Amino acid sequence: MNVLMLAPGYPAEMPYFTRGLQRVGASVIGLADQSESALPAVALSSLSAYLQVDSYSNEDAIVDQVKQSARHMRIDRVESQWEPLMLLAARIREALGLPGMTVAETVPFRDKERMKQVLDQAGIRTPHHYSATTASGVIEAAGKIGYPIIVKPIAGAGSADTHRVGSREELDRILPQLRHVTEVSVEEFIEADEFTYDTVCGRGRILYQNVCMYRPRPLIARQQEWISPQTVALRDLSDPGLQAGIRMGHEVIRAMNYRDGFTHMEWHRKADGEVVFGEIGARPPGARTVDLMNFVSDIDLFTGWAEAVCHGTLSQDLSRKYNCASIFKRAVGQGRIQRIEGMGRLMAEFGPHIVNVDLLPVGAPRRNWLQTLTSDGMVVVRHPDLETTLHIADRVGTDLQMYAG
Ligand SMILES: Nc1ncnc2c1ncn2[C@@H]1O[C@H](COP(=O)(O)OP(=O)(O)O)[C@@H](O)[C@H]1O
Ligand SMILES: [Mg+2]
Repeated sequence: MNVLMLAPGYPAEMPYFTRGLQRVGASVIGLADQSESALPAVALSSLSAYLQVDSYSNEDAIVDQVKQSARHMRIDRVESQWEPLMLLAARIREALGLPGMTVAETVPFRDKERMKQVLDQAGIRTPHHYSATTASGVIEAAGKIGYPIIVKPIAGAGSADTHRVGSREELDRILPQLRHVTEVSVEEFIEADEFTYDTVCGRGRILYQNVCMYRPRPLIARQQEWISPQTVALRDLSDPGLQAGIRMGHEVIRAMNYRDGFTHMEWHRKADGEVVFGEIGARPPGARTVDLMNFVSDIDLFTGWAEAVCHGTLSQDLSRKYNCASIFKRAVGQGRIQRIEGMGRLMAEFGPHIVNVDLLPVGAPRRNWLQTLTSDGMVVVRHPDLETTLHIADRVGTDLQMYAG
């Protein structure tokens, strides 16, 4: 099978998906806007052909270029796991008459208003919602929904430009900050705990599933720099508290007519047990969560995804052995990392349960914590018992400190 893989070298996880395709027997044709020699080694060594394009923004030119190449090179599938290229992938599929997601099927994964319309039609509980393109439109929507509300971009990511608004006065203060956003979703604010539901699908069947708990919920983690946010992949998916969310996940995948590859859904669980849909992407979760899922079961979902996409199966042992938490650290102070304290003691106390430490080294400039969830580094811990996992994760939160200056 010949697979055209868009952006095989970027973002950081893509080379491993590319290698996965090669490992399950596919010939991989890479397509990207960088020169072949600039690709990361893992991607480069997994490719059997390469198409360099001028710019991702000129989709017409790329579709033409691929059509030309397809005259002398068979292409069976087109894959993209990077959100900005999903529509391009769909356009190429349509131009070549290939199976996989069409443009019409892709749009609801990219546009949060279309997404909720599709799910409303399927009877799935979404937050009460409207889209708006003007300030008066937002005010009108808020009036219909009632405060508190959430205002967020229609195609946002990482909680950017996302606001909880408690009153009309607060809305008046926030509206000027949204001028650069062309279309927003205005939603009922759901007071709840927040989880993910992640899958790998093959031929419309759910072959793998995962649930992560966010601690705290992403919007709060983004408002307070001192917080070390955690994503916790849960070992026991038979927990009664997760069943309604998992059921909703199945219904959402069916309603979106999703067939092959990763999905990443977020859902809310209110104190009374009601579950409410959050959002869904036709891609793996970010912030290195694929690693987290791999650590839960000691598997390789980069290759597992490739097997699902190419052959419709996932033949690894998916039994869940651990809860696994990533803890993201933000340094105190600005500038460059000066010192890191506490890691030695944590290693002495919890060493066997700490499976990855990836912190910026001393001397490195801090990353912008508002733009990247991984912030100044991350630690990954795992343990068969959930309470113990959360305890270790909290200790990493409190006892590990990075200082910048
Ligand atoms: N209707 C809502 N009620 C409560 N919180 C919300 C709501 N919509 C979004 N949020 C908060 O904002 C965060 C980001 O919103 P989300 O729709 O997931 O966009 P993205 O992750 O693409 O930026 C969510 O994880 C959640 O914490
Ligand atoms: Mg989200």
